[in-house]
Order: sequence, then structure tokens, then C-alpha cells
Amino acid sequence: MTILLPDLPYAYDALEPYIDEETMHLHHDKHHNTYVTNVNAALAKHPEIGEDLEKLLSDVTAIPEDIRQAVINNGGGHLNHALFWELMTPEKTEPSAALLADIEASFGSFDDFKAAFTAAATTRFGSGWAWLVVNKEGKLEVISTANQDNPISEGKTPILGLDVWEHAYYVKYRNVRPDYIKAFFSVINWNKVDELYAAAKA
Ligand SMILES: [Fe+2]
Repeated sequence: MTILLPDLPYAYDALEPYIDEETMHLHHDKHHNTYVTNVNAALAKHPEIGEDLEKLLSDVTAIPEDIRQAVINNGGGHLNHALFWELMTPEKTEPSAALLADIEASFGSFDDFKAAFTAAATTRFGSGWAWLVVNKEGKLEVISTANQDNPISEGKTPILGLDVWEHAYYVKYRNVRPDYIKAFFSVINWNKVDELYAAAKA
């Protein structure tokens, strides 16, 4: 078994005009594919640890030192992107009543959540991700991580994530990351977020 690049769950141009077709091709076919190639190369050096990336990244100290950073970077890169594609859709979706109620309880209002998520995505210096996670106490939290670090390495379950690496937006939005973040809110697949939230709370 090796880790495979998943197909996008929609056409490359499906998220236009918010996320452009050229970006989706580069991002999926080149960047994501490179993470897949590199994580397979790292894991091949230690077949004894298996290929369950969620398990491996939930306790990175257990990863052999000579491949640890490669697995964090490329295994995280694979998991993050595989999730990211599913977190977007050309269809109009909305959070479930249960998720919306918990977002309002945690952040004050949906707009306050959006502001917190936008701030996390905007202020992440350099490359990284903004996340809505379920923390160890079962509560919703907005965080950001550097590079391809996945929240599961901090014991947090991601239910929404936004890639803020320049490769995710530079073709269309150039240096204007805030416009890309705003556009992302038009393509979030809240059905997927609901599904992940229910699983995280179970
Ligand atoms: Fe990316």
C-alpha cells in the first residue's frame, strides 16, 4: 500500500470565481501530489510504523527521528489538503442548527466566529493554516498552525481548515490574502464541517 493522491470531489473549475481553475490544478496536481510523493518516500524507510498518518501525527515523538520532520511536513501536507478539498463545494450549504448554536455559544455570534477565523488566517505569518477545531475539552476553538502542522499533533480535531500558503491564492489574489479568505467563506462545505463536528463530539 502506498498513500495515493485523491481526486478532487468536483471539477477543477467548479469553485470559480472564488477559487480559480489554474490554482486548483497547480495546488492539487503539483503541490498536493508532491506531498504524497515525499511522504511515501519517507515512510518507505520505516515500513514498521505503517501508513496511518492520523495516528502517526497524533504522537510525532513516536515517529523515527530520521523521517520525523518529513512525515510532519509531507504527511501533514497530504492530510491537510485531502481535507481541504472536501471542505469546499460549489453548492450552497449552511451549518446545521446544532453547529450554529455551538458556534454562537463559543464565539458570541456567527459573525464573531468569522472574524476570529479571518484574523487567524490573516495574521498567520508566512505559510500555514487557519482552523476551526474541537479541543480536548470538546469545545470549539479557532487556531492557526505553521507550515503543514496538523492540529491533531496538539490533540485537537480539525473540522474546518483554510490553507493560507501563497500557493493557495497567489495566481488569482496576488498578495491580497484577505480577499482570498473572504472568498473561501462562499465555498465552505458546511455539510462536511457538520459531519466532522458530529464525529469529533461522538
Ligand atoms: Fe496548499
